[in-house]
Amino acid sequence: MSQHTLFICTSCAFAAGQREYQGQRGGYHLWQSLLQCQQLGQLPPTIRVEPVECLSACNRFCAIAIAAPEKTTLMFGDLPALDSATAIAQLATQYVASGDGVIPRRERPALLQKGILARIPPVLPPQQ
Ligand code: FES
Repeated sequence: MSQHTLFICTSCAFAAGQREYQGQRGGYHLWQSLLQCQQLGQLPPTIRVEPVECLSACNRFCAIAIAAPEKTTLMFGDLPALDSATAIAQLATQYVASGDGVIPRRERPALLQKGILARIPPVLPPQQ
């Protein structure tokens, strides 16, 4: 099974108008929550959790993206830092199970039915 990557911007603000919570950015808190989900086995084993410094969605708070070879890349923003990890783990499970990475809005966890920032088509291998 191919490698899937969940990118989390660890620099994102905690909320609109609030950069930090308890001395850390919102994205840092979300990253830590997702690592905890991973340790609890709530993320598929083929998901690699990858912290990044920026996803260029800086005017939003808490941005993530999920990607895999030959699948559509999905990107979300405006995620509540302390309350999104479970929904993201559910989305990650759906994403791994999907053939093309496209998860219809109504099938995504409620928290992720809005706030989608990008849906980038996959890079396909050259045709033979
Ligand atoms: S600071 Fe998070 S996307 Fe730029």
